[in-house]
Amino acid sequence: MKDLLRTSDLSTADVELLLDTAAEFAIKPFLAKTALANRTVAIYMTKPSTRTRLASETAVAHLGGTPIFIRGDELQIGRGETIADTARIISGYAAALIIRTFKQSDVDELGINSTIPVINGLTDEDHPTQLLADWVTIREVFGKNISGRKFTYVGDGNNMAHAWLTMGAIMGAHVVVATPGGRYAPSESAINQALSIASKTNAKIEILTDPEAAAKDASVLYTDVWMSMGDPEIERAEKLKALAPFSVTPRLMELTTKDSIFMHCLPAHRGEEVAPEVIDGERSVIWREAFHRRTTIQALLYHLVRGELSGNTY
Ligand code: CP
Ligand code: NVA
Repeated sequence: MKDLLRTSDLSTADVELLLDTAAEFAIKPFLAKTALANRTVAIYMTKPSTRTRLASETAVAHLGGTPIFIRGDELQIGRGETIADTARIISGYAAALIIRTFKQSDVDELGINSTIPVINGLTDEDHPTQLLADWVTIREVFGKNISGRKFTYVGDGNNMAHAWLTMGAIMGAHVVVATPGGRYAPSESAINQALSIASKTNAKIEILTDPEAAAKDASVLYTDVWMSMGDPEIERAEKLKALAPFSVTPRLMELTTKDSIFMHCLPAHRGEEVAPEVIDGERSVIWREAFHRRTTIQALLYHLVRGELSGNTY
C-alpha cells in the first residue's frame, strides 16, 4: 500500500498496527525521532485546518523531518499546472504528501501520479486520518473487545459520516449513522462500500433517520458540524432546520449506555449539532480525540514511508 487516499484503503490489520503504534507515540512522542531525518513532508491544503495541519506538522517534526506547508493558492496549480505534473515534482523532493481539498478525484490523481505516499487529510467525501484518532480514543476507553457495543453517528451524511461507516465496517463494529435522509443522507457509494466490507468483517451497518433509535444503547455518540467546508451558504437555513432534531442534547445522551462517551471531530458549533452541556460535560472525550490526531498521523507517516501497510483485501 503506497497511499492512504480513502478510509477503505486500510485493512483491519493495518488499522490494528496503526492504533498500536499511535498508542506508543502517545506515551513516547520521540520514539522514532530519526525516522524522517533530513526528509521533508509536503502538506498542501486548499481548505482551512487547525488540527490536521498542526498535528501533521508536529508529527513530521517528532519523526525528525521538516514539514513544508503549502496553502491552496500558492502552487502553480492555480495558474494551470496540472495535478499530475505537480505530483511528479513533489515526488522529487518530499518523503510524503498530505493533501486536504474538495474533490476526492484530485486526491486520487495525486496518488496515481506520485511515487511518494499521498495521505488524504480530508475531502468532501472522506476523512481517513480523523477515524484513526477516533478509534485509538475509543480503544483507550473501551479496550479491544467491542462486541455488544453500538457506535452511533448522528447528523449530516457528510465526509465524516462516510468515514465513520467505513472504519466501523473495517473494525467489525456495530455502526449506526442517522441523518435526516434525502439530500442529507450518506452517499449510496459510501453505504455500499461499508456493507461490502461488513460482509467480510461481520460488522453490522444501520442507516437510520431516527436520532433516538440511533442513540438508544449506543456506547459512542458522535457528531460533526452541520455546515461543512464548501457547503453552499445559501442552503444554511434549510439545512439547519432539517438537522435540528439530530442535535446531541443531554436528552439524547440519556438514551445511550451508562458508560457512553461523546465524540466530535471538531471544530464544533455549540448550540447547533451539540449542546454545550454535552460537549463540555464529563462524557465528552474531544480533547483526547484531538490529541490523537498527532499520534495517529505520526504512526501513519512512520509505517507508510517504511512500506509496512498491506492495504485492503476486501
Ligand atoms: N478534525 C479536523 O480535521 O479538524 P481541522 O479541520 O481543524 O483539521
Ligand atoms: N465535515 C467537516 C469536517 C471538518 C473536520 C467539514 O468537511 O468541514
